[in-house]
Amino acid sequence: MGVVAHTDLVLGIDSSTQSTKALLVDATDGTVVEQASAPHPDGTAVDPRAWLDAFDAATDGLLPRAAALAVGGQQHGMVALDRDGRPVHDALLWNDTRSAPQAEALVAELGGPAACAATIGSVLVASFTSTKLRWLRDHEPDAAARVSQVLLPHDYVSRHVSGGEVFTDRSDASGTGYWSTAEDHWLPGLAEQAVGHAVDLPRVVASHQVAATTPGGLVIGAGAGDNAAAALGLDLQPGDVVLSIGTSGVASAIATEPVVDGTGSVTGFADATSRFLPLSVTINAARILELQSRLLGVDHDELARLALASTPGARGLTVLPYYDGERTPNRPDATGTWAGLTTSTTREDVARAAVEALLCSLADLVDHLSSITRLTPRRVLMVGGAARNEAVRTLAPAVLGRPVTIPAPGEYVARGAARQAAWALSGAAEAPRWPDVPSETHDAAPTPEVRDAYARLRDHESTAREEAR
Ligand code: XUL
Repeated sequence: MGVVAHTDLVLGIDSSTQSTKALLVDATDGTVVEQASAPHPDGTAVDPRAWLDAFDAATDGLLPRAAALAVGGQQHGMVALDRDGRPVHDALLWNDTRSAPQAEALVAELGGPAACAATIGSVLVASFTSTKLRWLRDHEPDAAARVSQVLLPHDYVSRHVSGGEVFTDRSDASGTGYWSTAEDHWLPGLAEQAVGHAVDLPRVVASHQVAATTPGGLVIGAGAGDNAAAALGLDLQPGDVVLSIGTSGVASAIATEPVVDGTGSVTGFADATSRFLPLSVTINAARILELQSRLLGVDHDELARLALASTPGARGLTVLPYYDGERTPNRPDATGTWAGLTTSTTREDVARAAVEALLCSLADLVDHLSSITRLTPRRVLMVGGAARNEAVRTLAPAVLGRPVTIPAPGEYVARGAARQAAWALSGAAEAPRWPDVPSETHDAAPTPEVRDAYARLRDHESTAREEAR
């Protein structure tokens, strides 16, 4: 167990798709002392320097009080830097699907999906960094030729605070497409193959190590991909499945052995300890509800009230919510589909159908994860902004067909980063033990008919897409 001085405060950062969140906590028990946030620009291609401005704004006044810091961040984003450390192009984010053809090409070059998964731990889709590098080579060859070093979003923020040190961790490295999850090392030849020439990759630091120290003595931890940081923040154990409903929808679980899925529905990532974090991800999650609120002209509470006033199955209305293209299933050019609208459809049904669509897409992720890992979930936890929605909380156990445990609302990515910072500060072999997060468990009578209707629409669309090819 890690030992840290009672007075130590540590800062955990979540540099997410939408904002930077900073959490100043007591290193001994994780109690939140203060928190702040600053927004990021919208879009799936972003000048990464905006994240540094957001970091400075969110940590203003907090940084000098911390003894250590670590950064969790959105996975996969391509931060391609020239020889002077300047971005050669906007960062292409995990939810930018323009590199879908490049993903297909790289999978073929690696010998097909099964061989690709055996080499890197996952089947490449447009989210992975290497596919974005290949897109740059294909579409912006001059910019590609100037790439000297490739970082992930969390590395870029760590570099900023450390004054130029370049490092990452195994969890985020495992989402690049040029890291061997099973063997725990870079595959620099694959980065070179993607962009067309050799590039520098960051040094990989373990969670218990000090990655860098600022002249002022601030210890900086390795940081992690956001999903791995959340796993640390929740102290996830084998048998737990976490559903995270943020910009992405994620089902993840801890595995003690690498997970290799040649179908590509589960990615075989590493976690931020020495274990593994297989996960299944959708591109469309909280934004399903945001879109619906906007279209109905209501806030999230009212959307929940409307949804709960309808009935299971939204009186025949079913939504396939692949609005911005989808990753699981891999339909990068998909859009949303509504089926079953009639002139008697109500606002309540429309709200209900949106919430059920979100939950059905998440239930699909849990099924993929359970079938690939062959782990029977001991419990399913639900976190993220949309887990606060009353309709989501109430209907989740009915749609998933099992009890759902909801930890108290919190910034679990930032908490995990803070726990990693406390770990690096302690220098101990194990992460510091913090008290369990309070949670409540919800249950409800299962509504399998809701998933059946969703599955019919999903599979019908899949057949139609195959026929159109
Ligand atoms: C995981 C993924 C998303 C991002 C969101 O593979 O792409 O969960 O990490 O921040």
